[in-house]
Amino acid sequence: MSQAPPSSDPLTPSNGRPERSTDGFPVVGIVGAGQLARMCQPPAVGLSTTLSVLAGAPDESAALVIPDAPIGSADDLDAIRRLAARSDVVTFDHEHVPGDVLAALERDGVSLHPTPAALRFAQDKIAMRRRLTELGFPCPRWAVARTVGDVVDFGESTGWPVIAKTPRGGYDGKGVRRLPDAAAVQEGALDDWAAAVGEPGPLADGILVEEAVPFVRELAAVVARNPSGETAAWPIVETVQADGICTEVLAPAPDLSSAASRAATETAVGIAETLGVTGVLAVELFEVVGDDGPAYLVNELAMRPHNSGHWTIDGAVTSQFEQHLRAVLDLPLGSTEPRSRWTVMANVLGGEDDDLYPVLRRLLADDRALRVHLYGKQVRPGRKIGHVTVCGDDLAQLRTRARRAADHLRGAPDR
Ligand SMILES: Nc1ncnc2c1ncn2[C@@H]1O[C@H](COP(=O)(O)OP(=O)(O)OP(=O)(O)O)[C@@H](O)[C@H]1O
Ligand SMILES: [Mg+2]
Repeated sequence: MSQAPPSSDPLTPSNGRPERSTDGFPVVGIVGAGQLARMCQPPAVGLSTTLSVLAGAPDESAALVIPDAPIGSADDLDAIRRLAARSDVVTFDHEHVPGDVLAALERDGVSLHPTPAALRFAQDKIAMRRRLTELGFPCPRWAVARTVGDVVDFGESTGWPVIAKTPRGGYDGKGVRRLPDAAAVQEGALDDWAAAVGEPGPLADGILVEEAVPFVRELAAVVARNPSGETAAWPIVETVQADGICTEVLAPAPDLSSAASRAATETAVGIAETLGVTGVLAVELFEVVGDDGPAYLVNELAMRPHNSGHWTIDGAVTSQFEQHLRAVLDLPLGSTEPRSRWTVMANVLGGEDDDLYPVLRRLLADDRALRVHLYGKQVRPGRKIGHVTVCGDDLAQLRTRARRAADHLRGAPDR
């Protein structure tokens, strides 16, 4: 495991450091170098843990701040093997690692967290729906459709609109499509869409169709579990999405009864335990009006730090990024206590202007308690390029401050 790669190996660290820490502290390898891996770096420094990230390109978000960032693709078994050779534990910044690659790593004896057996349910929405339904966790009504006729039959039986989802490869709503009526399900249209999203195959390979849930709001339960079986849960949060992309998170979710909060937390911890998840698990939930009050349906799972947990960097004793590292290293988990009554996180989406520095300077002067987290990403309209957080006692005022800062960074201050 600790063999040094030959010097001609493109993955050899350019700074000449040993490929494995020699001081008793571990190295965590992360497949993927997006903002989630990047935000693991500050707590890794505190824990004296070295990160090594497999980056698609040297200018990826995490590769800009983590010195050991070998270049390689997440579907390249040899590249991940070399990452594993310099790491004590390998974890993930995203779900897009093929099953056969994961299986080969497991056969090699690589310590993978989450394990492929658990990760499958965050990679494949059909596998997730099937397993959660078997286990009795409440889900929207769903089916697998392989033909236009299957989609129309599902719509006729559950009612329109229908939500179609590619089982794999989607993110930020890109693999999700609302079909208003049977006329929208024309021959070929779903094939074109599935192909455009990327990874999934044609309709004949099967897509997930779901009832369009008339939810009151969306919530998320973020928890962590380590291989020893210890679990920890942050308060349930409310997430606000626009066009399938998360724009705002309110922590804790306002007006959530303690019984509902307990039930949602138990659902998430139950899923973590039953599926054997190690690391951070986010469970996205829909709140609906049930016969006896609010009820909660599971939307989807993520087995890594999640956008709905970004507030924890500034708003909780232990951030989700530190907790993920602790969990995958089987260290004791940290306190998930909030530091303030309310924390509001707003995502910064890219606008037209890519010169953020003057805006940043102004915002820092205007609001001295604003916490800004930029991801070092190239600005593109609509792309998540950072987030801002504010903590305090007045929720309405915090929402206004967070939204205003995010809008300014987007270059749309007067929306
Ligand atoms: N069955 C449904 N009924 C109503 N709205 C839905 C349904 N499924 C998804 N949505 C809406 O679409 C959004 C994105 O869906 P989903 O979380 O499945 O996709 P994703 O692209 O994997 O998202 P993420 O950005 O979390 O990775 C949800 O947050 C919700 O607003
Ligand atoms: Mg989602």
